[in-house]
Amino acid sequence: MQKVLGIIGGGQLGMMITESAKNMPEHISKIIVLDPTPNCPAAQAGAEQIIADFKDKNAIMELAEKSDIITYEIESGDSDVLKSVENKAEIDPSPETLQIIQDKFLQKSFLKENKIPIPEFMEISSISDLQEGLKKFGYPAILKARRDAYDGRGNFKIECFEQIQQSFDYFKGQKLMLEKYIPFKMEVSVIASRNTKGQIKTFPLVENIHEENILRQTIVPARISEKVSKKAESIASIAMKVLKGAGVFGIEMFVTNENEILINEIAPRVHNSGHHTLQSSETSQFEQHLRAILGLELGSTKLLHPTIMYNILGSKSFEGKYKPIVLSEPNVYLKMYGKEISKPLRKLGHFNLVAENGETIELLLYKLESLKEKVIVKPISSTNF
Ligand SMILES: Nc1ncnc2c1ncn2[C@@H]1O[C@H](COP(=O)(O)OP(=O)(O)O)[C@@H](O)[C@H]1O
Ligand SMILES: [Mg+2]
Repeated sequence: MQKVLGIIGGGQLGMMITESAKNMPEHISKIIVLDPTPNCPAAQAGAEQIIADFKDKNAIMELAEKSDIITYEIESGDSDVLKSVENKAEIDPSPETLQIIQDKFLQKSFLKENKIPIPEFMEISSISDLQEGLKKFGYPAILKARRDAYDGRGNFKIECFEQIQQSFDYFKGQKLMLEKYIPFKMEVSVIASRNTKGQIKTFPLVENIHEENILRQTIVPARISEKVSKKAESIASIAMKVLKGAGVFGIEMFVTNENEILINEIAPRVHNSGHHTLQSSETSQFEQHLRAILGLELGSTKLLHPTIMYNILGSKSFEGKYKPIVLSEPNVYLKMYGKEISKPLRKLGHFNLVAENGETIELLLYKLESLKEKVIVKPISSTNF
């Protein structure tokens, strides 16, 4: 039976879910997206749009009335509102799973209860909690907003005693947690999926390189031993087993100097570090997500070729319209998100650089250097500052 798919959030993730959904006409008849920006990226890809805030209760009701199944590209949705419309549409991942994941403290507590390795952490409700925590964990330590954080904006690295008050004030009364600082040797992630019937599959481990707290580059396969990769993939599978929700999840992890794997955080949605799958794998993470929530057999996650994904970010020196990015090189797949305006470090697009004929990651990294220069975002007019 064909279904109407509702998506909360119509940015680039919603856009790429929409594109995949359009390739599955036998299962999905229509896609409706809820997003506040008129002609959002998902609408440009062919989704019908309800223009409203992500948390607008009436708009979510309307989306549920019109859809058979609802999914989301953002984790900040109101899980209580979503629960209240569960009688109108199926919601995947479920609001219960979302509720645990969207609060970093509840998420870590849940993982700890299930004996999944994570950095040490504690809840912070007052300055004295924070002082206690720092005595326990030492410096540096990371104070994190429990909710609505992304691209590092909800984190404060406390380096010394003098920063205690400053870090606490920075969050202006938000709910907080403190985490021990992990001097990791690599950041990695696993894109994992679980379908509504409980089948679980993971994509191979990838290596993530961040700049200024924003993902800049994903390298697949991660440059780490087979043993460590397998361990990380198996931890991801265990996390999926206990979390239960259906869909694709992005599981971020640290590899320590002792090759220990610790989960940093889980996103209940398709993930930037999974964009390489558009070219590197038989099944993209977007198709896998749809297969998972539709209860179809999950697709193959086999890696076909080593690949590097590079994010195209808005320049820090201007905000406004930008010159079109053009890249016509062999084995390079450019994807722009149709955003009209560039803002400092805004994600505007990405490209995948795919290896051919046994090319190594080292060679891809070498090729990447000249490609980076070709995708520098430049203003259309001379309004830069
Ligand atoms: N406990 C930690 N120890 C060391 N680095 C950390 C720790 N927690 C977060 N970070 C660094 O900060 C980045 C952003 O933190 P994260 O909790 O993933 O927040 P966000 O929700 O913004 O992605 C991580 O990718 C990692 O580089
Ligand atoms: Mg993160």
